[in-house]
Amino acid sequence: MRYAHIIGWGCHLPERVLTNDDLARVVDTSHEWIYTRTGIRQRRVAGVRETTTSLAFEAAVRALTVAGILASQIDLIIVATSTPEAMFPSTACRVQDRLGARKAGAFDLSAACSGFVYALSMASQAIATGSIRHALVIGAETMSRVLDWRDRGTCILFGDGAGAVVLQGSDVPGGLLAYELRSDGSGGDLLKLPAANGNPMPFLGPEYYNQHKQQTNTLSMNGRQVFRFATQVVGSSIQEVLERAGLTMADVDLIIPHQANTRIIETAAKKLKVPPEKFFTNLDRLGNTSAASIPIALCEAAEAGRLKPDNNIVFVGFGGGLTWATAVIKWNVTRPEISPMMSNWRRLLFSLSRVNSWARRLGRRLGALFGGSFTPEARLKDADKWKIHQDE
Ligand code: UT7
Repeated sequence: MRYAHIIGWGCHLPERVLTNDDLARVVDTSHEWIYTRTGIRQRRVAGVRETTTSLAFEAAVRALTVAGILASQIDLIIVATSTPEAMFPSTACRVQDRLGARKAGAFDLSAACSGFVYALSMASQAIATGSIRHALVIGAETMSRVLDWRDRGTCILFGDGAGAVVLQGSDVPGGLLAYELRSDGSGGDLLKLPAANGNPMPFLGPEYYNQHKQQTNTLSMNGRQVFRFATQVVGSSIQEVLERAGLTMADVDLIIPHQANTRIIETAAKKLKVPPEKFFTNLDRLGNTSAASIPIALCEAAEAGRLKPDNNIVFVGFGGGLTWATAVIKWNVTRPEISPMMSNWRRLLFSLSRVNSWARRLGRRLGALFGGSFTPEARLKDADKWKIHQDE
């Protein structure tokens, strides 16, 4: 049995900032209401050219750089997301291609805001059995594209971004110590996002909505009920996982919760009888980035020096499904020094893998052109020939 350690982390946020005052120009709300009810001051929103894949890719590049490993060493990529560009190809496959992670299996995981903890535990299990050595686990979202910008109960909450970690198998005890994954589908209608039904997903920010006045696949939520569910499960799930790991609250150095609402975090702190400072928060600046919120917060906590070797860190996610998930890890790494030359060298490698990907696509097209096409038209022609033979 091997141990799955986090050896690299990275996050990426869109540049565009949307403040509460900006939102007050779109829906009937105010900075005062949003800040006092949620703790959110502003959030980031993806630009026209940014996608869930591009955010995930940037976070992954940073995580690989901190881990000091090459994309070709990655065995598995899991992207937790509720806002993929397509049902398939998965965001994970798109990231795999852009990274040039040619030996990696890749898939998306759908567990809403609990997705990152689900993905982390799946990848850790694969490492623990010895079937893989390195995994890249990403949480990435472009929530701004699935919001109903008329609904002040939801559009004020969410933001865009991505966070990633690299896991490595090792015989050194530590890494993921215990986890718990839970669900209650009977509460599925409390927080939902219908499938895109083949609609392209353009930039659906407030301006887009004002221009087009149509949106088919938008998120809806019964905020009060979800709030109640979250405050019921967060504390008890943390306690159960600590018990599994043979730890108590006193052994925990930092809790990184899903960043949904400051009041949920304060209620959990009260229930667990710990000071709120034991919870890392960044939702005042980033809002709720769904599956991306925990890895982004982890990345910011690591960069801020809040994680020290031998620290016990708890992740707790909750959201649509309903789902909730908690994991406790022992942190074993210190941030390595990364020279700008090394970063540039890595960037060059990723650019080369893009060229490689284009060349492969071109090769396929040329192959189809000169070696017999597998296009729908060609298949129809084949079908016609087949029919003629049968008629004969
Ligand atoms: O990531 C997935 C997990 N998601 C969550 O954890 C979200 C959990 N829920 C929440 O964070 C909170 O329920 C919200 C922040 C969404 C809402 O806060 P609330 O204190 O539960 O408000 P509410 O829905 O009970 O609404 C109270 C009042 C209503 O007006 P009336 O009916 O009392 O006249 C709402 O219409 O506040 C009104 N309201 C607003 N007013 C100004 C709702 N949204 C807004 C708004 N600005 N943005």
